[in-house]
Amino acid sequence: MLSRRLFTSRRVFSTLNSVRDSDVAHFAKILSPSSVLSTLPPVSTPRDELDIYNTDWMGKYRGKSTTVLKPKSTQEVSEIVSWCHDKHIPIVPQGGNTGLVGGSVPLKDEVILSLSNMSNVRSFDPVSGILVADAGCILQSLTDYVAPYDHIMPLDLGAKGSCQIGGNVSTNAGGLRLLRYGSLHGSVLGLEVVLPDGTILDQLTSLRKDNTGYDLKQLFIGAEGTLGVITGVSILTPPAPQASNNVILALPTFDNVVPLFKTVKRQLSEILSAFEFIDRTAYDLAVKHGQGRALSDEDVEGAQCFVLVETSGGRREHDEEKLANLLESLLEVDKPLINTGVLAQNPAQFSSLWALREGVTEAVSKEGKAYKYDISVPAATFKQVVDTTREHLRSKGLLHEDAVKHVLGYGHVGDGNLHLNIVAKGYTPEIQAALEPFVYEIVARHRGSVSAEHGIGAMKTHALPYSKTDVSIALMKRIKELFDPRGIMNPGKVLE
Ligand code: FAD
Ligand code: MLT
Ligand code: ZN
Repeated sequence: MLSRRLFTSRRVFSTLNSVRDSDVAHFAKILSPSSVLSTLPPVSTPRDELDIYNTDWMGKYRGKSTTVLKPKSTQEVSEIVSWCHDKHIPIVPQGGNTGLVGGSVPLKDEVILSLSNMSNVRSFDPVSGILVADAGCILQSLTDYVAPYDHIMPLDLGAKGSCQIGGNVSTNAGGLRLLRYGSLHGSVLGLEVVLPDGTILDQLTSLRKDNTGYDLKQLFIGAEGTLGVITGVSILTPPAPQASNNVILALPTFDNVVPLFKTVKRQLSEILSAFEFIDRTAYDLAVKHGQGRALSDEDVEGAQCFVLVETSGGRREHDEEKLANLLESLLEVDKPLINTGVLAQNPAQFSSLWALREGVTEAVSKEGKAYKYDISVPAATFKQVVDTTREHLRSKGLLHEDAVKHVLGYGHVGDGNLHLNIVAKGYTPEIQAALEPFVYEIVARHRGSVSAEHGIGAMKTHALPYSKTDVSIALMKRIKELFDPRGIMNPGKVLE
């Protein structure tokens, strides 16, 4: 597998050039001094200043880029891309660099085009809720921007303090609100994109309805920077719920998760906004690393896993009553689906319960090096997938403190999205070989997806055939060829 990947990477880069001093001199001429970081003359930035751009969030992928460009306008992006196109220089678009599949850092020495200097809101219409923003706006800052107008962003994720809306769109990020507000394929109304030859594609419409042929913007949603650089996003923001509540439910067995989901959906109906699952290992790690306040010993005793339920509705009393009725009905039957439920009583508790779920990613990264598999499989199989993987690693002699420390599962039950995480002391070829194609074969047996929401990046280009047919992959390659015949946009990502 390794030699095939090296060959692929050699092939993808064979017609591409490294950045030279003369290129940096050109960039220094067209951009302001603070927008050009380069170890090459005439700029000469210290190499360690480029480390954060060259290293991904997990510390798993590292590039060797000599040059990071931080344009301040779409026009500047266009001029950079046009130059790179002429000179056959590869580009990695980079947002908040929180991606989890190695898509946002170079494989070799590609130019890193950071959107972080493009962070202005262009317009907001409080009547329609349509927000138009630069791609480099941080998700949390957009949430803060629309809050006084009583609106929220249609997506929320643990990385909200760093990830950018352009990165969210490029990865088609799912997150914690997808159950309620659907995917970005629905809420993104328009995009502005700089194409791989520098042309600006203006599709930044704010129309709710537009049936004028092929919907080109959809191609860039989830393209992970392989078809162009997103510079502007028009997105529909929903009205803020007037009341939000949450409760964490402790379950005696995983088998109860799916029946619980059915019951909760039926009873809470329109006010249900999240149904998130963490297994016992994930909970213990979140607590160990200080993510949210631990539940009492009594509440966690005998719990095999936990489910966080959130409601968002229009009337507090009505929603609280529904939630209280749900809890009562869950506990009063002969064979309850839950051991107990802890209801948030105030905003601090509400945040603390969410932190137990959202904080698992952070906790895992503090515990060790994570192999992260973000898969779509039927919700009823989540535990089986986690257990089978753990047993497989045990059978290979890899389940011990010096190799794999934990195998855990958490995720978005409502979306059939399991996050299978293997936490190891370090990244090693033995663990990698034990996990792949093992995990992908499980996914294929369920006709699932090797990427539910994080994307393909550099991590899963070889795994695409486990989820997509040859015909689909051939079409994707033709689309890539059409948009980017020189192959300069994020080479070696998504497609081999
Ligand atoms: P980056 O990481 O910088 O880039 C991601 C990809 O998009 C790369 O391929 C890059 O080249 C491309 N890209 C970035 N910006 C642009 C642009 N303007 N134009 C073209 N291409 C671009 N993901 C989920 O789906 N759901 C979650 O719940 C979730 N939770 C997370 C929690 C944590 C703590 C972390 C660290 C990550 C999480 N993620 C989650 C991963 C996720 O993909 C992102 O955090 C986010 O969408 C990436 O945005 P970013 O700005 O950091 O993009
Ligand atoms: C999540 O749901 O917490 C995110 O997708 C991040 C992760 O998988 O760790
Ligand atoms: Zn997720």
